[in-house]
Amino acid sequence: MNNSIVILGVQWGDEGKGKIVDLMTKYSKYVVRYHGGDNAGHTVILNRKKIILHTIPSGILHEGVLNIIANGVMISVKSLIKELTCLQSHGISVKNGLAISESCFLILPHHVAIDRAREASKGKIGTTLRGIGPAYEDKVARRGLKLSDILHMTSFEARLKEIIDFHNFQLIHYYHSSSIGYQETLEEIISCSEVILEMIEDVSEILNRAHDNFEPVIYEGAQGTMLDIDQGTYPYVTSSNTTSGGVSSGSGIGPKRCMGHILGVMKAYSTRVGSGPFPTELHGSIGELLRKRGMEYGSTTGRPRRVGWIDVVMINKSVQCNSISSFCLTKLDVLDGMERIKICTSYRDREGKEIDKIPSSLEAWKDIEPVYEILPGWKGKVYKIRDYRFLPEEAIRYVRRIEELTGVSVYIISTGPSREDSIIIKNPFYC
Ligand code: IMP
Repeated sequence: MNNSIVILGVQWGDEGKGKIVDLMTKYSKYVVRYHGGDNAGHTVILNRKKIILHTIPSGILHEGVLNIIANGVMISVKSLIKELTCLQSHGISVKNGLAISESCFLILPHHVAIDRAREASKGKIGTTLRGIGPAYEDKVARRGLKLSDILHMTSFEARLKEIIDFHNFQLIHYYHSSSIGYQETLEEIISCSEVILEMIEDVSEILNRAHDNFEPVIYEGAQGTMLDIDQGTYPYVTSSNTTSGGVSSGSGIGPKRCMGHILGVMKAYSTRVGSGPFPTELHGSIGELLRKRGMEYGSTTGRPRRVGWIDVVMINKSVQCNSISSFCLTKLDVLDGMERIKICTSYRDREGKEIDKIPSSLEAWKDIEPVYEILPGWKGKVYKIRDYRFLPEEAIRYVRRIEELTGVSVYIISTGPSREDSIIIKNPFYC
């Protein structure tokens, strides 16, 4: 038995991790977010209502579970309060169900302003405009402010003033943009932080105790492997480690304790929001069909997602750099009725050479062509099937082929948006 599982995306995010974390929370006592910020948009369905979580872990709908925002997560106090209010309006109480690390760094209004100014002025990354990149920059530059700093108001005020002055110079003189007001920022933080500070706990202590007692814990990844700052399609990435390597540093738990089983969540096709390489991207009617059927519009930004066939070259890179133990295949039902389904098994570079590794530089990504294997689609439906034996034969063949090409078994298949539309072939907690 594993007492901890990591659930993370093996593509470019939006693989449907929220639903899977929600599904697996039934077997867990803790759900932990360990990186990223409110750039994430994790969709969970409650009583047919769609709830989108940005910073709060996806286990929040379950009673008796402690949801933890650990030190690797960036917090926008304003956005977190909005999320808490939204949950309350759905009748979900977070009382006793949410703990926050005091070591989380803050996303401040000037981070959002810089993100916006950059996206408006030069080569676009296509960020979520939540200030994530600039906030991580301040952290690494050792001038960032943490939640715990708010507890020492006099020094917090002085450091906030300094950091805002520093960034206003850039905003005004480099981006020709409006400056950020110190007083408004301070008031916003003070008004929002009271509720948040009440939830501060020593989360690594809680988690270490949980591991001592072999209690089940889920570590919930955000975004996806190809958006990892080190392993992804740089510079078209987010600013944190989305891969399993980030679990330990982002939660304060040693790697041997927090990584019992690593469940890689993979969509049955590929999507990406924002700019950057996407060899299997579909531009025509098939892409449009998948986008509509899969409701592929960003949960945080509403932007239409780019859509394409599954890419095993990329997935194999994810398997390698995350130590993936098993897969959860999501949105298989979206492929219902397709005549043919393509799997990208290798790339051809500009010299016509076949390669099975993802390029490491932007220049090398240019002119990459996907090499496909074509499988027949299925006539019956996968939608809402809850027993593996009832899947159409060709759907099983597709699942098996992915397993063969990656060397990793599929433990869970998602066949529709609700929690119940799932086939658990093997439970990652009990293997
Ligand atoms: P940032 O994280 O807002 O800086 O955006 C950097 C890149 O990551 C952009 O291409 C975003 O579209 C992408 N991104 C950030 N968060 C998510 C997510 O939750 N799902 C999918 N893409 C994301």
